[in-house]
Amino acid sequence: MTLRRKRAAILISGRGSNMRALIERARDPSYPAEIALVLSNRPDAAGLGFAKENDVACAVADHKMYAGREEFERSMQVLLELHRIELICLAGFMRMLTPWFVGQWQGRILNIHPALLPAYRGLKTHERALADGAKIHGCTVHFVVPAMDEGPIIAQAAIAVRDSDTPESLAARVLAEEHAIYPAALAYLAEGRLRIEGNRVYCGEPTTLPPPLRVPFAE
Ligand code: GRF
Repeated sequence: MTLRRKRAAILISGRGSNMRALIERARDPSYPAEIALVLSNRPDAAGLGFAKENDVACAVADHKMYAGREEFERSMQVLLELHRIELICLAGFMRMLTPWFVGQWQGRILNIHPALLPAYRGLKTHERALADGAKIHGCTVHFVVPAMDEGPIIAQAAIAVRDSDTPESLAARVLAEEHAIYPAALAYLAEGRLRIEGNRVYCGEPTTLPPPLRVPFAE
């Protein structure tokens, strides 16, 4: 029996490299989600170009055109319903979401963060990890809850920090890992494989996520 692919939306504000990784992965008809909409809060988001070229439906809800956050989010909600969206991936979406919006999508909305949560919530994660002398850094896919960069963790990837690293070089290697774990995490969600208990997410075994990294013994 073939299961119906879940209709996913990707919310972006900028470059959209994670969006691109998700669109490319979802080209495989056996992938359990289809990217049914890319929604940007910025009309000039670079990622919109790739989505359009790849025949993915695009929409813009420009937050500056709304009187407040609620109006902006209600407009996004209308667009999401119009496109019969079932799951959301935040991918570099730079707006805080209200508890109302998050509540509409509870258990169905994911975010990717460029650090090993719960370390380095917020911005400038690579700079901060280097400044702290961290030896391991990475990225996290998690369920979205009203508090920023919190919510049950689905997947993480770790990389070794090198002596020669700058924030830019570290960001580039972390980004490559983001592009690997985000499509994997969305697939788990779309397949209904995720079970949340408290802060823990059970993915079922075996997983197809990258193996753990032990620094400095392997890279
Ligand atoms: C990524 O580093 C992601 O982890 C963070 O914002 C960045 C978005 O990059 N949330 P891109 O737009 O996906 O290229």
